[in-house]
Amino acid sequence: MIQTNRFDLTPREEIDAMSTVNKAGLEDVVVSTSDICFIDGREGRLIYRGYDVDDLAAQSTFEEVVYLLWYGALPTKKEYDAFYKTLSATATRKLPPKLVALLRGLPKKTTPMEVLRTGVSALSAFDPDDPDNSREAEIRKAMRLTAQMPTLVAAWERIRRGKAPIAPNPKLNLAANFLYMMSGKKPTELAAKTFDVALILHADHEFNASTFAARVTAATLSDMYSAITSAIGALKGPLHGGANEQVMIMVDKIKDPAKAEAWIRKAIADKARIMGFGHRVYRVEDPRAKHLRRLAAELGRQAGDESKVKILNTVARVMTEEKHIYPNVDLYSGAGYAAMGIPTDQFTPIFAMSRVAGWAAHVLEQHGNNRLIRPRAEYTGATRATYVPISQR
Ligand SMILES: CC(C)(COP(=O)(O)OP(=O)(O)OC[C@H]1O[C@@H](n2cnc3c(N)ncnc32)[C@H](O)[C@@H]1OP(=O)(O)O)[C@@H](O)C(=O)NCCC(=O)NCCS
Repeated sequence: MIQTNRFDLTPREEIDAMSTVNKAGLEDVVVSTSDICFIDGREGRLIYRGYDVDDLAAQSTFEEVVYLLWYGALPTKKEYDAFYKTLSATATRKLPPKLVALLRGLPKKTTPMEVLRTGVSALSAFDPDDPDNSREAEIRKAMRLTAQMPTLVAAWERIRRGKAPIAPNPKLNLAANFLYMMSGKKPTELAAKTFDVALILHADHEFNASTFAARVTAATLSDMYSAITSAIGALKGPLHGGANEQVMIMVDKIKDPAKAEAWIRKAIADKARIMGFGHRVYRVEDPRAKHLRRLAAELGRQAGDESKVKILNTVARVMTEEKHIYPNVDLYSGAGYAAMGIPTDQFTPIFAMSRVAGWAAHVLEQHGNNRLIRPRAEYTGATRATYVPISQR
């Protein structure tokens, strides 16, 4: 085969030569290698750094998973203790007072995702390591972001309800401390454990839209805060992290488990897109869904309201039977959070509080072996338009 230099081609030929990879939504396009996360879409398995997420959900903690994602291996006891201590210290978790003042200045109707996006971006101005992109500095920044994002989310919840933010409690792990800062009450063991497992399950997911956004930003050699801010913007959309909120809106619309079957059959007949179902990579049920279904059911039982999970189970059964489209991570997470008394519009910020672990791991990996991410478009517009002066149009 004759090797052609792409500069010998006409612009049209060059694009045609590339367009074999032109797939809408970059479906099935491999854009880079990565050691962080593997999704087996046919078997329904999710692996972080070699470890099955089922095992991590059963045996690990969110803090340990964060370490695993950033350092590539499970910590020894000594490494874990030092990492945990820094991550949970009040100095790492607390917000600069000027940032809290900034939050107080926002209109109360600002959505929690808008607040998170704004707050994370603003935090860079207070970080002593910004704009140092060395690995050591980036890990310190990732540590602060992971520790401060729960404080930020909880502070906004308090401020918009006209209450004072609650200071972090260094005796509680990240999951329990977040629930405490939201309500002022220490969570039950079941709630804290469930929340910790939910954080583990959302911590990374290969080149999903928000992670890719983070990597694209990082690949320009921009900084950790800019990359995470980009990722938060991408996560906000209803086709990505915003789906968990939409699921709960659907559940609230259905209200009564006895009405769920008729509701979903009509929605299918109307060709509606049902949030919490389907996935670009999984061909079977998302492996995270089973854990969240079980935990949401347990929490619902404890709270004396099993109706949400019953509604979701019926919707899932009919979607599976009729459309062969399976639950994803977003179907059951909201029902668990709702049972903990968390408002619906906080579900996506909670997703971000966990996914920041993965985003940061991907920024570290990108900066460890960087090349600018700059794809091409297959141009389908006009090429020989004649400019007509505005006075003659
Ligand atoms: C996740 C998602 C965006 C993946 O999208 P995608 O890979 O681009 O797949 P498509 O949107 O092209 O869907 C492929 C087919 O499945 C159908 N489909 C996919 N997800 C569906 C859903 N949730 N409800 C109804 N139909 C769905 C589409 O209508 C399409 O059918 P068609 O070929 O007859 O038109 C999509 O499944 C979706 O919108 N899900 C709901 C949002 C959600 O839960 N997001 C969280 C993801 S973790």
